[in-house]
Order: sequence, then C-alpha cells, then structure tokens
Amino acid sequence: MVSAYNDLDRPPLDERSLQRALMVPGGFVSALRVLPSVESTNSALLAAAEDGAPHASVVVAEEQTAGRGRLGRAWTAPPRSGLFVSILMRPEVPVGAWTWLPLLAGVAAREAVARTAGLEVALKWPNDIVVAKGELEGRKLGGILCETVAGAGENAIVAGIGLNVTLREHELPVPQASSLVLAGAESTDRDPLLRALLRAFGTWYGRWSEADGDARAAGLAEAYREACTTLGRQVRAELPGQRVVTGMATGLDAGGALLVTTADQEEVTIGAGDVVHLRPEEAN
Ligand code: BTN
Repeated sequence: MVSAYNDLDRPPLDERSLQRALMVPGGFVSALRVLPSVESTNSALLAAAEDGAPHASVVVAEEQTAGRGRLGRAWTAPPRSGLFVSILMRPEVPVGAWTWLPLLAGVAAREAVARTAGLEVALKWPNDIVVAKGELEGRKLGGILCETVAGAGENAIVAGIGLNVTLREHELPVPQASSLVLAGAESTDRDPLLRALLRAFGTWYGRWSEADGDARAAGLAEAYREACTTLGRQVRAELPGQRVVTGMATGLDAGGALLVTTADQEEVTIGAGDVVHLRPEEAN
C-alpha cells in the first residue's frame, strides 16, 4: 500500500514542465515523455527508434516493471524512488567511437548529482555510479545500460540511466547498493536532477559529436579519468566467457576500454565485463 508519507516523499515528475524546460531552441532534447509505468524505458525507446523516433528522444518512467541492467541482470526500484531514463541517439560520428557513450552518460550523471544534490560521486569502470567517499564509499547509486537498435543498420543507440534517489536501506536491491538520500544528498528532488542530467548529457554529447567522436579532443576522456575510481587500483575483471584477469587498472584505450596490467606485466584490454575492486590483501 502506498502511504501518504510515500507520496509526499516521492512526488511525481511533471511531463509538461520538463518539456517546457528542456525542449527549447538550441537544447539537446527533441521529445520527452514521462510514462507512469513501463516494462523498461530502454525497451520502450528501442521500439520507438525502430518506428523512426528522432535523435535525442527521451523516455522517463515513474516505475519500471521489468527494468534491465548490464550483463542480463534486472534493475529494480520502487515507483518514483529514482530516475529511470533513456535517451535515443542517432550519432553521426563513426560507430567505433560509440563505445564512449556509456562513459559519457556516467560523466553527465556525475555532474548532475554534484550540481543538484551536492554529492560527489565517482564512476566505477565502465559506468557504475558509486559513492565517492565516506562510510558508504564504493556503494552503487546507479548504472547505465547502452543498447544499439537491432536491424536499423546500427544507426541508433539508446542510453538508459538508472539512479537510486530516495531508496531506504530496506528497499535496496542488494546490500552493496545505496541511494542519494542514504549517501547524504542535500536535495533529493528528481525534477532538477533530471533537468541537470539531460543538460549535462546534451553538453557532452555536443562536444563529442563536434570532435567527431574523438573523446580526447572533446575533453571527455579527461573528465572520465578524473571521475573514474577504478584507475590505479588492483582489480579482478570477469570477462564474458568465464575468463578472469587480475591486475592493476592502468589506463583506458582510445575507445574507453580498460587496460589492466597483470603481475607478469601482460597488458590486457577489457572491453566489457564486470570489474571488482580488490583490497590490497586480496590483490595477490
Ligand atoms: C546496470 O548497472 O546494470 C545498468 C542499469 C541500467 C538501468 C536503467 S533504468 C532506465 C533504463 N531502462 C532499463 O531497463 N534499464 C536502464
């Protein structure tokens, strides 16, 4: 049952005012819908993309009944407890550079949280949004799932962003998760947070497009490096196909893949998979 307290604590988003604020000349967003409930904003936008939805279309949901995470996982959160948003892009830059889009989304989310919630968050490679410091350091606040549109000649990609805003301890999907409120955010108002997120995303997308997908020239590689808490750490990378690589995360390649140097000085490029940060005593 939804109590009055929950309703006050988790006010709905206003589609009209978001449209008025974001669908403006010179702005990034071309269309924006706020759906009361949907299986997954990514799935909804992927379907819309196949029906010709324009570049920079945005779908937000108050509730997802089958939210999806990376590596086939589920993404669950109570209604209106966070941001569940997907952005469709039809980039004109070479497809090889699209690997930067999930990282770009992470950089935008980090900026938006700092600006509107006064909270410093970090990015765990590739794009987990985690608490940057304090008692809850490393706990996951959000994640990003990018998916390309099947059968559309690879000319479209959807970036889905999930961010835990007002989840309480007992509502967390896993003990290693957290939320902005639990991490000490100054504000948990989703409206300015969503506006800031889409504006920051549009700004970075513009820089990256103008640089023809060159993340270094766009300043994106530098911004990501600054945000990324994985670099300089001992990690264990679990790659698709059950391969495990352990070593020091030393850098990123030109496409944003993680470079890991193993104990026998082999440099392995990690393009996808799960990365675990190791404590010093676990590293050998
Ligand atoms: C992850 O960390 O595994 C990625 C989570 C991505 C969740 C978001 S919520 C909005 C969008 N719609 C989905 O179904 N998933 C993404």
